[in-house]
Amino acid sequence: MTGVVEIFEVGPRDGLQNEPRPIPTADKIALVDTLSQAGFRRIEVASFVSPKWVPQMADSAEVLAGIARAPGIRYAALTPNLKGYERARAAGADVIAIFGSASEGFSRANINATIAESLARFEEVAAAARADGMPMRGYVSCVTDCPYDGKVAPGQVAQVAEKLLALGCYEISLGDTIGQGTPDSVTAMLRAVRDVVPAERLAGHFHDTAGRALDNIEAALAQGVRVFDAAVGGLGGCPYAKGATGNVATEAVAARLAALGYDTGLDPAVLDRAAALARAMRG
Ligand code: HMG
Ligand code: MG
Repeated sequence: MTGVVEIFEVGPRDGLQNEPRPIPTADKIALVDTLSQAGFRRIEVASFVSPKWVPQMADSAEVLAGIARAPGIRYAALTPNLKGYERARAAGADVIAIFGSASEGFSRANINATIAESLARFEEVAAAARADGMPMRGYVSCVTDCPYDGKVAPGQVAQVAEKLLALGCYEISLGDTIGQGTPDSVTAMLRAVRDVVPAERLAGHFHDTAGRALDNIEAALAQGVRVFDAAVGGLGGCPYAKGATGNVATEAVAARLAALGYDTGLDPAVLDRAAALARAMRG
């Protein structure tokens, strides 16, 4: 064994948020309950964003209320602002996540704010989370390429990641939102980010639009990253990033990591069942 790598399952959130067809809450709960048997330690199941912006996530509180919580698993939710944080806390989220962007174009399109404005909003969320003892994760989107601004400089990613760390995020997830990163651009980006955030506090979040996500994960492993976000069945995308199809599939990441000698602690048979459920939910 080469060591332990954690897969952070984001399918019920990132995987489903982009589906145009309304998915019944009971189906979302069934997916989470299956995933809870697979061996994950963290599953992102909800998003307390504006229901006008992302209608698919409007039932997030019902999902959190309906799942059978398994011991040892933390159920996570996205929170773009204080209102989202308060909804997430009331619904019983175990972990929240603020989400910013390394590029101005995507920040504006996704959360209707400049990067500076978003960081000011996140400060309010961070203060509330700190007071409540709520663990907070941070996402940086567009870490190599932006659908609006093109190539993103590694230094811009490092700047935003450093600020999220200073706000109290226990982990920063680096998002290749539109799946255009390459092993070279991912390596250059991680070298810059590692100057300001230790590798143990980083996660890789790769969309598989161009089919390079697994290679990019290998590049990130070489830079010391040991947590990867993935969505079972390869569902997903971002409604505000055209072309951002599919997160890398959890079962494919688990298989690649196993072939490389890493232990994920995941049960492939349960992952296959969850992937079949996830694919059936696709419109
Ligand atoms: P805004 O319109 O600028 O917000 O949206 P506002 O503060 O002006 O409020 C407008 C209305 O929204 C008000 O209601 C608020 O109460 C309501 P009204 O008075 O008109 O009836 N509102 C809310 N309602 C419920 N929950 C809330 C909330 N906040 C305001 N939290 C906002 C700003 C950030 C809210 C909006 O832009 C938004 O919700 N954006 C979310 C977009 C999104 O979810 N994108 C996908 C997730 S990010 C992603 O997928 C990337 C990631 O996977 C990593 C990667 O791949 O790179 C994480
Ligand atoms: Mg994503």
